[in-house]
Amino acid sequence: MSTYEEVFANNLKWVASKTKEDADFFNRLASEQNPDYLFIGCSDSRVPPNEIMGLDPGEIFVHRNIANLVCSTDLNVMSVINYGVRQLDVKHIIVCGHYGCGGVKAAMQPKDLGILNGWLRNIRDVYRLHKDELNAITDEKSRYDRLVELNVQEQCINVIKLASVQQEFEKTGYPIVHGWVFDMKTGLLKDLNLDFEKILRGIQEIYNLTEKE
Ligand code: CO
Repeated sequence: MSTYEEVFANNLKWVASKTKEDADFFNRLASEQNPDYLFIGCSDSRVPPNEIMGLDPGEIFVHRNIANLVCSTDLNVMSVINYGVRQLDVKHIIVCGHYGCGGVKAAMQPKDLGILNGWLRNIRDVYRLHKDELNAITDEKSRYDRLVELNVQEQCINVIKLASVQQEFEKTGYPIVHGWVFDMKTGLLKDLNLDFEKILRGIQEIYNLTEKE
């Protein structure tokens, strides 16, 4: 753990090591961003996208919030996705949850959590959608893990419902939406292997936004 002052010393060390590796690194970084990935993850401090994906600054466009939620009324996440898809032409959109997510855990408790109620409602809705599957899991830890995965899956579906995503995919074959879960105990990323095209075709019966009225 570094103190506040040490953070700036760390920064100098980082600049030195980057420049040693590649003298032109910061010139390139300052000139533009051209990321292939949009990462939507949890705000949890233990889930640092660039580090776990082994990618440099400039390679991931990032949005994080409690429990990696994609709500159509959240202007923040909607703006990030819209910019990522329409301006940056990202090829992959990743919704990344993590086991041990405090937001998901809180949503599993059926009680009044004050200002968090509105946000956690989105996760409780995921629970309701998958109630039969979840209630059939007797081990509480396994049920919690499964809700983390199902939450990622539903947030991916929320991404796929968007006009920008559907229209850009129709035109270019990108972006492709992926659901991942990060396991902090091992450091490993688990790909839920969601079938993007199948989900897209499935939901377009109701949510087809590729054509204007
Ligand atoms: Co979390």
